[in-house]
Amino acid sequence: MANILCIGAGYVGGSTMAVIAKHCPQHRIVVVDINEARIAAWQSDQLPIYEPGLDEVIRGTRGKNLFFSTEVNRHIAEADIIFVSVNTPTKTFGQGAGKAADLQYWEKTARQILENSTSPKIVVEKSTLPVRTAESMEYILNSNSNGLHFDIVSNPEFMAEGTAIRDMEKPDRVLIGGLESPSGQKAVQAIVDIYVQWVPRERIITTNLWSSELSKLAANAFLAQRISSINAISALCEKTEADVGEVAHAIGLDSRIGPHFLRASVGFGGSCFRKDILNLVYLCEYYGLDKVADYWEQVIKMNEHQQTRFVSNIVSSMFNTVAGKRIALFGAAFKANTSDTRDSPALAICRALLEERAEIVMTDPHALDNARANLGEAAKQVTFEPDPYAAAKDAYAVAILTEWSHFTKLDYEAIYTSMIKPAFIFDGRNILDHEKLHAMGFNVYAIGKPPLIHLP
Ligand code: NAD
Ligand code: UGA
Repeated sequence: MANILCIGAGYVGGSTMAVIAKHCPQHRIVVVDINEARIAAWQSDQLPIYEPGLDEVIRGTRGKNLFFSTEVNRHIAEADIIFVSVNTPTKTFGQGAGKAADLQYWEKTARQILENSTSPKIVVEKSTLPVRTAESMEYILNSNSNGLHFDIVSNPEFMAEGTAIRDMEKPDRVLIGGLESPSGQKAVQAIVDIYVQWVPRERIITTNLWSSELSKLAANAFLAQRISSINAISALCEKTEADVGEVAHAIGLDSRIGPHFLRASVGFGGSCFRKDILNLVYLCEYYGLDKVADYWEQVIKMNEHQQTRFVSNIVSSMFNTVAGKRIALFGAAFKANTSDTRDSPALAICRALLEERAEIVMTDPHALDNARANLGEAAKQVTFEPDPYAAAKDAYAVAILTEWSHFTKLDYEAIYTSMIKPAFIFDGRNILDHEKLHAMGFNVYAIGKPPLIHLP
């Protein structure tokens, strides 16, 4: 039996530890956080995040071998293995502001581990970190005067929100990086021994520390790059009457390209793609690789351009003004099946339309509370309406911003009837039946497709 601790009870900490607890009943797992409200929520029936399948895993493990607590110091002292999954946002101040990772939470945690340890421990980097962070961590942890030894292991998390439980139950791979030393390799093996309880051994890959840290940044950069690539093509489709769905299908059938992650959209969002690419860009600049930095920065610029293009398209199609016009935004979450609105394109588009003085009504099945909090001051100008029919009533336009399947099942005849005419629909996720909507009377604008309009 090992005492496993996870510091940081967020999307990653809470979900990953629940799955480990499910498959490793022999281990005792505690998840701690400084945020008392978050811990209280993990202990209640109203979990702090919406994630399909998570409730069930928590119900099966909590109070048996999975525990949530705010007593960080006590649990550090008791732990054999410590996973650290605190947040690593983009730095907003000083050197590297706007690009580099803000490692203050991470370093505070390392020092806290040091202060409260009386036995050697394995410290696992679960958070996404700049390559070579483990070097500084090793230095901080092993520069103690009490002779304790700490092994640092990198075990980045590849799960996506909305499919987190499925991704962790059947991961494409688990990556574990460690130092070449005998003690480093022993630590790697201890982490392999956890995952091998449910993940086939050939899917658990071990590398050196730096490859593991960099692979996480590279994987997110490659995924985001595919979205920016298809979004760049969507812009060209709109000028040439090509259909981006058909183009994505045609290129995705090439087994070297593959069909996944080619859905043109209002752009990628979420707490990680932008932050991790900026981090990669900063690292490249730091090492004097300016051309490489420019290359990756373009992925973000294209993403921003896609959102700007979408808003410009709304304004120009609606006779060059949306001032005073009610526009219903369908979706607040950065993707379907999550309540997370961090860096959501829906919020960026909402802000841009508010600048144009539109009257905004936002609807979403799970993310309205987070949207209200994330929008800050701007939230005062937005109406949050859980019912999409009520949101669309008397609106000049509906814009689909999150690909909730819920939005595909609505009665669009009824929505059309309740709207101001001419009625517009902007499908930023290409999830609706555009021909059908056009036949109902809507002026339909999708991403990367010729518009279907009734206007002269
Ligand atoms: P999060 O903000 O949801 O959770 C982080 C938690 O850490 C917060 O609850 C915060 O209160 C806590 N924390 C910060 N400092 C602490 C301290 N000193 N002691 C105790 N708790 C502390 O973040 P997240 O989405 O879970 O992401 C965590 C890390 O995992 C990030 O590096 C992220 O890039 C990475 N990651 C996230 C995802 C995802 O889907 N969200 C997927 C893979 C990797
Ligand atoms: C992403 C990665 O997929 C995970 O592997 C990684 O662990 C995680 O980031 C992380 O490090 O945080 P996540 O951001 O949760 O996961 O969700 P994705 O499914 O990757 O979607 C990201 C964004 O891209 C969403 O806004 C989504 O709507 C958009 N997207 C995705 C597209 O616009 N088109 C696509 O084809 C796919």
